[in-house]
Amino acid sequence: MQFDEQKLREYYADPPEDIRLEDIDLARVPSHVSIIMDGNGRWAQARGLSRPKGHVAGVDSLREAVTTSVRLGVDVLSVYAFSTENWRRPQKEVDLLMHLFANTLLKELPLFHQENVKLRFLGDIESLPKKTYKVFQEGLEQTADYDGMVFALAVNYGARAELARAARLIAKDAMQGSLDVEQIDEQVLSERLYTHGLPDPELLIRTSGELRLSNYLLWQLAYTEMYVTDVLWPDFTRWDYLRAIRSFQGRRRRFGGVVES
Ligand code: IPE
Ligand code: IPE
Ligand code: MG
Repeated sequence: MQFDEQKLREYYADPPEDIRLEDIDLARVPSHVSIIMDGNGRWAQARGLSRPKGHVAGVDSLREAVTTSVRLGVDVLSVYAFSTENWRRPQKEVDLLMHLFANTLLKELPLFHQENVKLRFLGDIESLPKKTYKVFQEGLEQTADYDGMVFALAVNYGARAELARAARLIAKDAMQGSLDVEQIDEQVLSERLYTHGLPDPELLIRTSGELRLSNYLLWQLAYTEMYVTDVLWPDFTRWDYLRAIRSFQGRRRRFGGVVES
């Protein structure tokens, strides 16, 4: 995607010792970056704060990740904000998160307008609390015509639920006669996922050091390069983002084939 090089250089002025903008190839920035934003609770606990304070602090990192993605010309940024398993958390924490999603989105809409960012949701957002759902709809409507970066927020998302839903949609089409069972292939399934129309992530970043997927984009991550950092989400900055891209650019992607050396 097009990006403003002048703005990008200003944004990345004042580098730390180990990384600079010049360390990455701007022509090979991944088109779709996905982030499992993890470690808010541990960040708060380490400071003697309650877990919700960690979620509130995480909002600043998310705003920075959106801006960084726009500056770098990333086409799609997707982030995991709430899983289908996160309902198991204490009710108070769940309520706070639902409240935070709605409030943050409302507050951050000007950034979307300013940067031409189109909002998408991954997950079953219809079963969210009414107010959260309403604000999400509002965000979708207000950004529907934008053609800049796509920002996909995964809320009440679980990859297994997504695949089961795709199976239901396929079965319905087959029963109604609009789909021949013999035609069911990878594309037919992809088109019925929440991510329909989006390219698969090229780079997956997980913060806080956990080496697992936690039911995230199981289908879409088939050939994604993974980058795990010990940095906790509220501490994640534009420089950590650059470190992840540098690591990505140092890899050889084979997609099951052979790469000549
Ligand atoms: C990620 O941080 C945010 C959500 C899952 C909503 P956590 O809340 O999982 O933080 P840790 O992993 O307990 O530190
Ligand atoms: C994954 O983090 C979900 C999100 C970041 C939204 P979790 O903290 O819920 O994952 P587990 O429980 O450590 O696997
Ligand atoms: Mg966690």
